[in-house]
Amino acid sequence: MVLKVNLELAARDAVEAVRRGDIIVVIDVLRCTSSMTNALANGAKRIIPVKTLREAYKLKSEHPNFLLAGERGGLKPRGFDLGNSPLEFTRDKVHGKTLVFTTTSGTDALFRCRTAKHVLIGSFLNVSSVALKTKKTAQKEEKNISIVLSGRKGRFSLEDFLCGGAIVEKLSGNNVALSDAAFASLLSFKQVEDSLLESIYKGEHARKLAELGFGEDVKFCCQVDVFNIAPSLNDGVVTL
Ligand code: MLT
Repeated sequence: MVLKVNLELAARDAVEAVRRGDIIVVIDVLRCTSSMTNALANGAKRIIPVKTLREAYKLKSEHPNFLLAGERGGLKPRGFDLGNSPLEFTRDKVHGKTLVFTTTSGTDALFRCRTAKHVLIGSFLNVSSVALKTKKTAQKEEKNISIVLSGRKGRFSLEDFLCGGAIVEKLSGNNVALSDAAFASLLSFKQVEDSLLESIYKGEHARKLAELGFGEDVKFCCQVDVFNIAPSLNDGVVTL
């Protein structure tokens, strides 16, 4: 069987990928899926992504031990334990904890994919592990793959596109057919892989984060393959 690899340029296009039954990889490099990956690498037990602040506050009132994490306008919402900076998710803060996570775009993209059987959490931090698990699952289930870019407020985002290209590179091989968008992301990634941080820093989202004082987050999120983990979303919960 020829394995098809699609790349959905905006989160709203996830609906088609879910309908097709594809194995899905959701990417929000800046910063949601990078923060989730770092939290789980540092021992967080599980992450519950929710769409609204209201849902987050409700879960906290029912489970006072849960930690609320995320952002609105890039900043930590009132009453939250943690923001959306991956550097905040240190072992001493998150080990063994359940995190409730809500962000503007990343958790929205996850919500749109929630009914898919297999949803993986992708970022530069774990490109190889995610690609390997995605490919194995697709081959086992005889399904195609869709990489869903969260983007920023539903719009195309450079860093997610480049990360898509990094994952596509690892998925490529015999009997793999790339969509035009997937191939374009691969070409773009190859063009800038030796100057990834500089290129991503020129993007709208990285510039905005730098303005807010989160330049170090951008650096952290542009590291390739620092973790050998491939988190996934099952029944509304992200775990390893
Ligand atoms: C999001 O999900 O919208 C992002 O993670 C925003 C951010 O960089 O905080």
